[in-house]
Amino acid sequence: MNRITFGIGCALAAVSIRAAGQPAPKAAPPGTAVAPPAASTASPDDVAAERAKYAAEVRRQIAGKEQQPAETVFKNIQVMKGVPAELLVRVMEMGFGPALGVSCTHCHVPGKWESDEDPTKKIAREMMAMTRAITEQYLKKIEGLKGPNPAVSCTTCHRGQVKPAMSLAPPQAR
Ligand code: HEC
Ligand code: HEC
Repeated sequence: MNRITFGIGCALAAVSIRAAGQPAPKAAPPGTAVAPPAASTASPDDVAAERAKYAAEVRRQIAGKEQQPAETVFKNIQVMKGVPAELLVRVMEMGFGPALGVSCTHCHVPGKWESDEDPTKKIAREMMAMTRAITEQYLKKIEGLKGPNPAVSCTTCHRGQVKPAMSLAPPQAR
């Protein structure tokens, strides 16, 4: 499977590095710390714990079907077709969530995972298409890049925030 196709390649690479025994970074480097989202007082650890709780619920529901294609296990898969069901859950928990610094509830009504009633979920689908287009249509055409496989992921822009930064100024000055 071509992971880059789904615009999640780098996020998953980060996941496998952590799985190899390195703890997830707890604090942003100096000068890049960001205020928590205005609507929430939850700490990053609380948000991660909530993501883990919901991901565990979904994993229980798909027990025995982890390696089947997502579209045969879930009800409303439009982009991540062919992705093993368990990998979709991992992308949600370890990719999208940390990249934007959010819990599942930012895009979903918990338990109604197939529902598109939250418009943010549809934005996320278009973001996947945009991310794929940048990697496959734009980066591929730039000659002289040093990386063997230049790619962008959600994290490239979002870096733990819902709204990507437009400057390096501290958040309160933006
Ligand atoms: C940034 C938005 C976003 C976040 C955060 C997010 N999801 Fe998703 N989720 C999506 C999108 C978009 C899809 C549909 C993918 C597609 O159409 O291929 C999806 C699909 C799913 C599905 C498949 C549902 C079905 O039956 O079709 C499940 C289950 C799911 N997400 C669970 C979770 C869980 C659990 C979390 C938190 C750990 C989470 N999601 C976090 C955007 C998000
Ligand atoms: C090239 C940069 C870039 C990449 C890559 C990118 N995004 Fe975005 N994203 C943005 C920008 C810019 C906005 C708009 C922020 C604003 O409202 O001003 C945005 C907004 C969003 C929003 C709406 C935020 C909200 O709740 O208001 C979601 C959800 C989102 N992105 C998800 C994703 C996901 C998931 C990925 C990876 C599949 C991704 N993005 C990749 C730049 C990017």
